[in-house]
Amino acid sequence: MKSRLHAHVGTLRQLEILLAVHKHGSIKTASESLFLTQPTVSMQLKKLAEAIDMPLYDLAGRKLIFTEAGLELVTTATEVLDSFARLDMTLANMRGLKAGTLKLAVVTTSKYFIPHLLGPFCDRYPNVNIQLKVGNRQQIIERLKHSNDDFYVFSHPPDDIDTEQIEFLANPLVAIAPDGHPLATRKRIDINEISKQPFIMRESGSGTRYAIQEFMRKNKVNLNIRMTIESNEAIKHAVMSGLGISILSAHTLVYGGRAGLAQLPFSLLPIKTHWYFVWLKTKRPSLIANEFLNHVETDGRKMLAAELQRSGIRKRDI
Ligand code: PGA
Repeated sequence: MKSRLHAHVGTLRQLEILLAVHKHGSIKTASESLFLTQPTVSMQLKKLAEAIDMPLYDLAGRKLIFTEAGLELVTTATEVLDSFARLDMTLANMRGLKAGTLKLAVVTTSKYFIPHLLGPFCDRYPNVNIQLKVGNRQQIIERLKHSNDDFYVFSHPPDDIDTEQIEFLANPLVAIAPDGHPLATRKRIDINEISKQPFIMRESGSGTRYAIQEFMRKNKVNLNIRMTIESNEAIKHAVMSGLGISILSAHTLVYGGRAGLAQLPFSLLPIKTHWYFVWLKTKRPSLIANEFLNHVETDGRKMLAAELQRSGIRKRDI
């Protein structure tokens, strides 16, 4: 027997309102984000609750706690609105103009090369809008959980979330010191010597930090962390000004410049990691997302690998 529930649920706009309230966890913030008044939002939620004949949420103080039924409706609303987004894309495609929005969320270190992938893609599809979010690994994992975007870029995708992923580029992590540092003239430095140097580290939640800590733990090497800094660029400047040495992705040097910096030849370095495009297994990619993935796998992958090699990174280091 076919369900008639949809006949009771008023409009798609109500589902959008529901998703905004779920995302923000508050009627006030959701109203602001939708440019609606709070009573309007509350009224639409009330209508939805009446339609499914069950409460959507409970109030614990000022906090909204979604009920099981409320969460089921959120899942269905997401699927329904995603279907409409896909329909929009399909119709645009039928009209012969590949239009729509490509949403990417990438870890801070990949912001150096992602725009170089987007350039040629946007030339080919001038009607496509790009939305690019940048955050550290932990912030991007949070976005992945909510599947807000078409693709996520990590070098260490989380292994406790069901995802599809493609590996597309090497991400060697190299040790850097200021130009003229006494270690910079050495041919080879034992990795254990790194403990004698003040070290500048990325913040907790960073994928670079995660990779360095895993590497040091495996090789039983201690670091003498003098400073924690949230940005690759600020770390490079701190290193240049003699505050310590660090380990960063080679991409921060390829695109961000290496003036004033020397690469240190510690044994066992670089730490060899790779970049991945990641998306939730349950997410059906839009047409534009598929086109973009095609572009990454063909031209994009080759172009970025060539740029990495042109920058002087040795083949055996990637
Ligand atoms: P980060 O991530 O920018 O959070 O350090 C880089 C990575 O995942 O390797």
